Amino acid sequence: MLKFSVIGTGYLGATHAAAMSSLGFEVIGVDIEPAKVAALSKGKVPFYEPGLEELLEQEVNSGRLKFTTDFSAIKDCDVHFICVGTPQQKDSLAADLTYVDAALDAVAPHAKAGSLVVGKSTVPVGTAQRLLNRLKATNPSADLAWNPEFLREGFAVEDTLRPNRLVVGVTNDAAENILKEVYAQLLESGIPWIRADLPTSELVKVAANSFLATKISFINAMAEVCEAAAGDVTVLAKAIGYDPRIGSRFLQAGIGFGGGCLPKDIRAFMARADELGARQALEFLREIDAINLRARQRMIELVRADLSEDLKGKRIAVLGAAFKPDSDDVRDSPALDIAAQIHAAGANVIIYDPKANANAQARFPRLGFAATAAECLKDADLVLHLTEWQEFKDLDPIAVKKMVKGAIIIDGRNHLDREKWLAAGWKFRALGRTH
Ligand code: UDX
Repeated sequence: MLKFSVIGTGYLGATHAAAMSSLGFEVIGVDIEPAKVAALSKGKVPFYEPGLEELLEQEVNSGRLKFTTDFSAIKDCDVHFICVGTPQQKDSLAADLTYVDAALDAVAPHAKAGSLVVGKSTVPVGTAQRLLNRLKATNPSADLAWNPEFLREGFAVEDTLRPNRLVVGVTNDAAENILKEVYAQLLESGIPWIRADLPTSELVKVAANSFLATKISFINAMAEVCEAAAGDVTVLAKAIGYDPRIGSRFLQAGIGFGGGCLPKDIRAFMARADELGARQALEFLREIDAINLRARQRMIELVRADLSEDLKGKRIAVLGAAFKPDSDDVRDSPALDIAAQIHAAGANVIIYDPKANANAQARFPRLGFAATAAECLKDADLVLHLTEWQEFKDLDPIAVKKMVKGAIIIDGRNHLDREKWLAAGWKFRALGRTH
């Protein structure tokens, strides 16, 4: 049985380590943060991801899964998965590759002969070849492949164990064969296998995320037109979605995409295309980014239009802070950005998110936070629905009306049952719906 190391135990790494262990492999997760390692070693996940903590606990208890800060612990491993982050650089659109480079340099001296380093992080095209050269310079007997990860937050375990496809970028058959052994159980269940060269495997990931971002910004552009033409984007999305060439998923109009992937990936892709002399090919992504950020401003305009131009002293209940439901992640969250901007405009903002309050508060300590939806809604002049948690869909508009001062709700996710809210006597507004 092969033995694995997983370098970087954040979102991607912790999930990958637990998932590989659940397939029966021995796995050692390595991270430079002792606090993270200590928590994971006890079976505790330092972020919220449905199903992951149960799996992690089970695998740590099985004895197959261990965590350490000591890189020498990887010396017996056959495969080393690099799962560290590639955030946006502070002063440019490009990705910051510091962690990927550091991970490779930490692994190289300990990687045994014949072992395979497998990059899973999202990187600018050309990085894998550069890392392969770097690896060979210090450890000629090790090899490198790229195997992009497509997991969605909220479905991380499911997406790792039952992905839509497995993509491997390799330079030889031996590397592909090792990866086939790693994923043998997934392949048996019929998951498509795609062998690619290194650059194509890197591009698949950013191309997929660019397409998803484009789909969302497309429907948000249609929302803008619907607003101008007195149409309804939710009906439009439903109608075009029936065409299987278009498909109905990722056509939910609203305040747009955020999170740790889509925004930074499209920006890094543009920066890389620029370096490669292919700037024009990705010029449209600039517009995708702009439409996405504009949705946040349009939401704030709706608040001003429905309440008053001057937001000073108005109490605004914000339902949701995470960038999407079933996550406590507030990285580049449209919800939190809108809340912070409304607060900066003088409003008294009270946020409630079922899981992301702590992360949001750490980011914006001066915003108001409530421990329950009821506390958040109490005496509000206006309610903003910004992350589509089931808990918010389940709210009873009749009961909520008794809690607030002003029965005005703006649905930033087009997810609430408008008829129900209207029937209860609410003024109901949403992006892309004028009537
Ligand atoms: C994404 C990709 O889906 C995943 O394949 C990749 O590996 C990492 O990036 P994730 O960041 O978890 O995953 O979120 P995703 O579910 O794609 O949603 C991204 C954002 O788009 C969220 O803010 C979500 O609210 C928004 N979104 C999604 C919309 O605004 N409308 C939609 O129709 C769908």
